[in-house]
Amino acid sequence: MSDKISPDKISGLSSTLLITLWAKAVEYDKPNPLLKDPEAARLKKQIDYDFQKFNSARLSQVGCCGRAKLFDQQILTFLSQHPDAVIVQLGAGLDARFERLNRPKVTAWYDLDLPEVIAIRRQLLPETDNQYLADSLFNTDWMNTVRQHNKPILLILEGVLMFFPKDEVKHFIVTVAENLPNSTMIFDIVPPMAVGRGQYHDALKKIDNQARPEFTWTVQNSQEFETWHPSVKLDSVHYLSDTCQSHYPWWIRLLYATRWGKHNLDMRIVTISFVA
Ligand SMILES: C[S@@+](CC[C@H](N)C(=O)[O-])C[C@H]1O[C@@H](n2cnc3c(N)ncnc32)[C@H](O)[C@@H]1O
Repeated sequence: MSDKISPDKISGLSSTLLITLWAKAVEYDKPNPLLKDPEAARLKKQIDYDFQKFNSARLSQVGCCGRAKLFDQQILTFLSQHPDAVIVQLGAGLDARFERLNRPKVTAWYDLDLPEVIAIRRQLLPETDNQYLADSLFNTDWMNTVRQHNKPILLILEGVLMFFPKDEVKHFIVTVAENLPNSTMIFDIVPPMAVGRGQYHDALKKIDNQARPEFTWTVQNSQEFETWHPSVKLDSVHYLSDTCQSHYPWWIRLLYATRWGKHNLDMRIVTISFVA
């Protein structure tokens, strides 16, 4: 019998964490990597799952790593301005950002995901100076926990919001605005061409048909978030292709070099703040 951990109790949506884990583990063995994540390489070996089915998802492999790198850079910038911050990764999956960033000495670092995911995370990557929260990001209990520190708060949602209906995402952002004023949030937005096309996505299409989540929304203009609540301020927008650059094949770089390609095919990583 295998002593590896089986992820078969998690939902199709939660199993997308295996794509990002796989991507970072593959990157670890490359000669010129976008990022180095030894924990991803270690965790992948301990999970009983057919990761080989993602081997053909070359764009997603690079894209997931470029996205994680861009998030890391944005988080480090925030930490340089707010060394006493409270960091909350919502939908953390098995991402080892806390370890990857050398366990920053912040006021508190929380990794939140659904209980069945946190159970696996606790087995494979136990808490050290960070803390795990087994909860849905749509509940407000975790907001009460992080607010109590009375410190600058950074909320990180990587590869998460895209799978929920736009009205739920909007409601979530309004709830954060009202419960965590003065916080900052970083998240990613899928490009318009991806919406409703999960079945063609190189990695997502490998998830079982019945369970596969869908990319459900985007915004044409990132300024739209400022209309969702009066306290929302758009701080920055970064395009994923600018980070991935030569790690992507030439033909997709050509597409990203056009206005059409940038708008319709490129992922955006957005930072917004809630200004009380
Ligand atoms: C694509 S994975 C991203 C994981 C991680 N952020 C990363 O980049 O490796 C999406 C994650 O969102 C989590 N998730 C889905 N619904 C959630 C919810 N309601 N509350 C918290 N996390 C949720 C899943 O369990 C999964 O870990």
